[in-house]
Amino acid sequence: MSSKITIIGAGSVGATIAYTLSNEDIASNIVLIDINKQKVEGEVMDIAQGTCFRDPISIVAGEYEDAKGSDIVIITSGIARKPGQTRIELTQTNVNIMKSIAPQIVKAAPDALYIIVSNPVDIMTYVFTKISGLPENQIIGSGTILDTARLRCGLSEHFKVSQKNIHAYVFGEHGDTSFIPWTGAYISGVSINEYYELAKSLGKDVKELDKEAMLAYVQKSGGQIIANKGATFYAVSKAVCKLCGIVLASSDSVATVSSMMHGEYGIEDVCLSTLTLVGPNGIQGKVPMRMNQKEIEQLKKSADALKEVIAQINL
Ligand code: LAC
Repeated sequence: MSSKITIIGAGSVGATIAYTLSNEDIASNIVLIDINKQKVEGEVMDIAQGTCFRDPISIVAGEYEDAKGSDIVIITSGIARKPGQTRIELTQTNVNIMKSIAPQIVKAAPDALYIIVSNPVDIMTYVFTKISGLPENQIIGSGTILDTARLRCGLSEHFKVSQKNIHAYVFGEHGDTSFIPWTGAYISGVSINEYYELAKSLGKDVKELDKEAMLAYVQKSGGQIIANKGATFYAVSKAVCKLCGIVLASSDSVATVSSMMHGEYGIEDVCLSTLTLVGPNGIQGKVPMRMNQKEIEQLKKSADALKEVIAQINL
């Protein structure tokens, strides 16, 4: 593909996204921008010097004006969580950083599709939507695409079946109010609730699924990894690169990404993740997956928690 992708923020996530993209055939032209010139030039050198082992690709350290003509802009800037810190605790600091970035990058690349990764990502997606002046379809928050990947990993390990056969999702906030709508969770057409019996009948050594424990595994993975190694960056970078591939493909895909709600499930004026149609024209709309009343209440609880934070930020 001859796509141009600009990444703002050369921290562990931004640099790993650039490195991951440099290994794939998604972008032919990568621009990495950061206020820390020494860091961004070091990251670009380190990545570029490995590109002789693949077809030609350009990766440069740039300024905002170098983002001109980007197909995708990925915003990762912001302070990262420390061990024991919640994503929400970063909010105003990262909102202020977003307020300084948005006008500069939108001036350089008004037609790009924007993937917001900075945390708390649902709040940052909302803020960017409100201050960028761009059409909403151009703005995609990474949302719970990573949480859904963690869920698929956990269910695959639990049921000893390939991740590609797991169709289950995480909705709501990328954070502590996320939840799993088990109504829509299947393993190749068999509901999760029935799969345990099927696996047992096939003599598989699987245990009954503790749904609460699985949700805790998904919600706490980020914090656990940060406690263990200081930051998360591999899985989130793979998730964002997958999203780049989706928006650069010729047809739409369905993913759990964060975007503005407009009355779906009775929720509006907040960004959060449900099943969303995404493709070459960005956000195409929410896919109204059936949920039971309890699950709809969980989504509304997540929306309310995010709105409480939005009410406190200085936009
Ligand atoms: C995590 C960060 C990306 O969950 O929020 O790993």
